[in-house]
Amino acid sequence: MNTALKIKEDIYYIGVNDPDIRTFDIIMKTANGTTYNSYLVKTNEGVIILDTVKEEFKKEFFYKIESVCKYEEIKYIIMHHLEPDHSGALPELAKRAKNAKVFISPMARPMLKSIAKTDVLELENVWTNKEISLGGKTIRFLSTPNLHWPETMSSYLVEDKILFSGDVFGSHYFDDRVFDDMVGDFDYAFKYYYDHIMRPFKTDVLNALRLYEKCDIDMICNLHGPIIRDNPQKYINKYKKWSNKDDRLHGKKVISIFYVTSYKNTKDMAQQIYEGAEIHDNIIANIYDLTALDEQNMITILEESTGIIIGSPTINGDVPKPIWDLLSCMMLIEKKGKFGGCFGSYGWSGEAIEMMNGRLKSLKFRVPLKPMKLKLIPTKEELYNCYTFGLEFSEIVNGKMVEMTL
Ligand code: FEO
Repeated sequence: MNTALKIKEDIYYIGVNDPDIRTFDIIMKTANGTTYNSYLVKTNEGVIILDTVKEEFKKEFFYKIESVCKYEEIKYIIMHHLEPDHSGALPELAKRAKNAKVFISPMARPMLKSIAKTDVLELENVWTNKEISLGGKTIRFLSTPNLHWPETMSSYLVEDKILFSGDVFGSHYFDDRVFDDMVGDFDYAFKYYYDHIMRPFKTDVLNALRLYEKCDIDMICNLHGPIIRDNPQKYINKYKKWSNKDDRLHGKKVISIFYVTSYKNTKDMAQQIYEGAEIHDNIIANIYDLTALDEQNMITILEESTGIIIGSPTINGDVPKPIWDLLSCMMLIEKKGKFGGCFGSYGWSGEAIEMMNGRLKSLKFRVPLKPMKLKLIPTKEELYNCYTFGLEFSEIVNGKMVEMTL
């Protein structure tokens, strides 16, 4: 087992490696494995530990701590994020470091009880710009909620100009050379990680970047993958670029209509809804046959769309797979401020339409209109109703106030 790695005077990396993991959090592929990063700061008044590691790696974690200090020296434990890959060793650390106080965000307090399974931890809440100090080291806290859980925060070690960024700026990429300027090319892992962990929370990323901008950063100590010390601004700029909305449409809003169809009935409905939505000056409507879209394109389109309307027939009482694929892509986009709607032609009972509508609502889309549901071949009047559905939806997306009581 390796001992703690000095990364700056009195500052040590005490994280662990998980080179063989191939899937993280069910949805992420990890071809290069990952690391669970943790840090230790020594001062003449005691030791600060920043985050712990996944429980199954705690033996190595404690070995590293023991290589540089005694447990009774540990005064502060800072938990930026409570996901078990970082809090797994906390209960054991708290038992060993009996003099330590744990610093967490207010949102973390109720969660910590369920994770640490103990009431005996001495806890203190911290928030943006609150500072603590020990032996000449000052830690300033920065609230960075949703990156990647609601309780997440970052902190800044003032004297050493180090940003402890939590999951932000991480990569699932193991390389025991540790630093960004020494490891292999991890650009793909940095972007992939952003796309899966940060992209659904772009607004929160931009808020975090505004806080980071006030700090003079020499090094970014994140929770996964290479520590960033070679031009940290380069990585900050990447996050800025990926999170800022592209205004290529000069303020116009996009409504995207996705459909699948068996006998053209749902397609005919989609076309009318499209024509109704498109008529509005400030709206750009688009229509897509989902069977011909791959997942990456779905995500790009969903992200740009303020309004999303989904149409499907019901097949064997269910929604067909291309629609579920679209709905599952929603976990990778920011839903804040988006509107949803549903439609479909059905033969018997039409369960698919309610299923899609329920899914949009549970994802916190604003769903202002009752689904447009009709039996088999639409009549002229029904097609006209589809047209007015599109028109009404576009007016709402463009700012018309309605009650969301459906
Ligand atoms: Fe690395 Fe969200 O935990």
